[in-house]
Amino acid sequence: MDFYSDYLVIGSGIAGLYFALKASEQGSVIVLTKKQRAESNTNYAQGGISAAIGADDSFELHIEDTLRAGAGLCHRDAVELMVRTAPHAIAELERLGVEFTRTNGRLDLGREGGHSRNRIVHAQDATGRAIERALLSALAQRPSVTICEHAIAVELITEHHFRTSSPHRTSSTCFGIYALTPSGSVDRYFARATVLATGGCGQVYAHTTNPTIATGDGIAMAYRAGAAIGNMEFIQFHPTALYEPDRQGPAFLISEAVRGAGAILRNSSGERFMLRYDERAELAPRDIVARAIDNELKTRGERCVWLDVRHLDGVRFRNQFPTIVEECAKRGIHLPEDMIPVVPAAHYCCGGVVTDLNGKTTIERLFACGEVACTGVHGANRLASNSLLEGIVFAERAATYLALHPPPPLGKEPELVAPWDDSGTQNTEEWVLIAHDRDELQAIMWDYVGIVRSELRLQRALRRIELLRSEIEDFYCRTKLSPALIELRNLATVAWIITRSALHRKESRGLHTMSDYPQSDDTQWRCDTIICGEQVECRPLPS
Ligand code: FAD
Ligand code: SIN
Repeated sequence: MDFYSDYLVIGSGIAGLYFALKASEQGSVIVLTKKQRAESNTNYAQGGISAAIGADDSFELHIEDTLRAGAGLCHRDAVELMVRTAPHAIAELERLGVEFTRTNGRLDLGREGGHSRNRIVHAQDATGRAIERALLSALAQRPSVTICEHAIAVELITEHHFRTSSPHRTSSTCFGIYALTPSGSVDRYFARATVLATGGCGQVYAHTTNPTIATGDGIAMAYRAGAAIGNMEFIQFHPTALYEPDRQGPAFLISEAVRGAGAILRNSSGERFMLRYDERAELAPRDIVARAIDNELKTRGERCVWLDVRHLDGVRFRNQFPTIVEECAKRGIHLPEDMIPVVPAAHYCCGGVVTDLNGKTTIERLFACGEVACTGVHGANRLASNSLLEGIVFAERAATYLALHPPPPLGKEPELVAPWDDSGTQNTEEWVLIAHDRDELQAIMWDYVGIVRSELRLQRALRRIELLRSEIEDFYCRTKLSPALIELRNLATVAWIITRSALHRKESRGLHTMSDYPQSDDTQWRCDTIICGEQVECRPLPS
């Protein structure tokens, strides 16, 4: 079947929902989301949203902290815009019904790594859930918005899909999307503008804090359509995921706000090791803390380090972190009396689909916002709690831009677009191939493209990923579509992009640590890594 709307949004996290809310003032909106509507990275966000609103704080300090964490690669214009919009974003969320934690009537401001002031606005330790709920309930009042659950976007519709297209033609315009629906049919969704808000790709790694939806679909689809993808070597590992050796699935996060409240990291000898690595100790930026833990584990041959909260006030701790206390208690860890075993896990993708400050990608009528986008805000390392903020700020920018510059209605293009062709594909009983390939890909990425990298390991990873990619592509062409197969294909594409980008950057900077090139080299590498088709290049930062 075919569906038409003014705006088509892929994803129902903070970026997609906020865009839909704003765009619904201008026209009809369809939101496609691949699971239940609330299932997103947003829903699990704990720490909060950063905003320079404290009496001792300023925009300049927040900008400075963001640039410092980004290790020389942030786009200053994007950072300034985001930081200066933060108080408005918080006010908007409150207006929509998000109940942020207040102390004596004032917003309670938490602290996280890399921030020089307390500036994390939060709803206890479940900020994302509060935001997701408020946005979904606001959207329920908008008749011009339709949310389609369990509809997974497969491919962007571009000129490649015209019945008469030449296979080598470069695509330049997006007309909508092919999506696999719960009935098993692949439907066509056409729109004046399509917005990718598909979130990150943590699932490309064996250990991640991200839920299973985070398979990099938006990045892979945009890459296949010919969009520029930027800075994918900068994958952020959160230092403190709960260590559970037998757990299958996402790791439970122990928020950085716990360290902000005074928790201390210790190795199994009880030593507070972070002081050996950085004078900011537990509150150094994430790349530094994750690398320090990785080094402790590797040099001491241990499996986890310990987060010590035993000295913190129990009543206050339980009030501040009820979700963490409850989740730990389920596992027999009683807080704050016990120490928490923690390890780093893949957490956030700093790169993504390249956009300008209005969310425009390099493909006409295609926009991107939230974690899927590379706006220039995060550079080589994202500052904690800048992600929810980036999502809301750039979703609003895209909606405002589209209100001021509405794309013309589609003309005859939908008639030119071929229906989804699955002739020649078969149902398969070879599901073991999909499960095995996913596990293998995740293990390769964890072992060879993780926190510390080397040319040798990256080359080895690339060879294996290329083989897997071609086998998966072959299987994909012969097999009836399923969500698991779509995701596997996207994971393989994203793994390849991350590894190619990492191999390109011959220095260490921010989240990208290369043992062969331990120093940063501003003379050659103060640039964005842009990958488009087979080409990888270094693009100078905007002046
Ligand atoms: P998401 O919220 O991930 O939403 C993506 C949506 O796209 C989902 O609905 C998904 O189902 C859908 N989707 C994906 N692919 C398809 C497809 N092919 N077809 C249809 N739908 C699709 N950041 C902060 O700033 N502060 C925090 O405190 C914080 N805590 C975090 C804690 C955890 C455990 C995690 C995992 C992340 C945290 N982050 C935090 C990061 C932050 O939550 C995310 O970066 C942010 O929520 C991303 O929002 P988004 O809207 O871009 O994507
Ligand atoms: C956390 O609560 O530690 C996550 C914050 C973030 O990812 O920004």
